[in-house]
Amino acid sequence: MGNTGPESTVPRTASGVGGAGLSPAGVEAGEGHEAELERGVGEILIDEETLQARIVELGGEISAGYKGRDLLLVGVLKGAVFFMADLMRELTVACEIDFMAISSYGAATDSSGVVRILKDLDINVAGRDVLVVEDIIDSGLTLSYLMRNLKARKPASLEVVALLTKPDRREIEVPVRYVGFEIPNRFVIGYGLDFAERYRNLPYVAVLHADLVPNAT
Ligand code: IMP
Ligand code: MG
Repeated sequence: MGNTGPESTVPRTASGVGGAGLSPAGVEAGEGHEAELERGVGEILIDEETLQARIVELGGEISAGYKGRDLLLVGVLKGAVFFMADLMRELTVACEIDFMAISSYGAATDSSGVVRILKDLDINVAGRDVLVVEDIIDSGLTLSYLMRNLKARKPASLEVVALLTKPDRREIEVPVRYVGFEIPNRFVIGYGLDFAERYRNLPYVAVLHADLVPNAT
């Protein structure tokens, strides 16, 4: 039978997108979550092919850089999971993975730099070659805190790979060894990046649709 589903799947926004050419082929997705997913997309900034090609390159650079070393990838939950999963499959060196979850105090949209560890590492990083895997660096405040915290645990080396960076937004300099793409100062979703926890499952990076962008100051 058709997917008649519960009546509760009402789209959360009331933007009359109709006819804007956003709908994917096939499905009459008018009321469902597929429609919600598509409606979030303003414009595609980095398509899937470009993204994956750059990840192959990064994998090559990192494999060369860590040849014969004791690599531990530290993923920052949740956004980095998608990037990390694809990146590590491009590595030709042995590596382990672990995760941290952190949350900034204060306003939802702007990082305060005051960070709380929600989930710490399971692995002891002392003496290890640690590569922090981040989805995006915005102000840099979160990463800056994280780097200070990890450095205190005396790893053999500590570097960062970030899929995306918004240089215009940087408030504090954080040395980032490997960068996927520099992007303009716009709010992006997809490939791990969320808006209110949604849209992480888009296979590309897109600018959040203007109708959903919270009022900027
Ligand atoms: P920072 O401390 O300002 O560098 O905060 C970086 C964190 O903010 C990232 O790890 C993301 O979780 C989030 N973030 C920053 N910009 C975006 C964006 O454009 N889309 C989604 N999340 C973002
Ligand atoms: Mg994050």
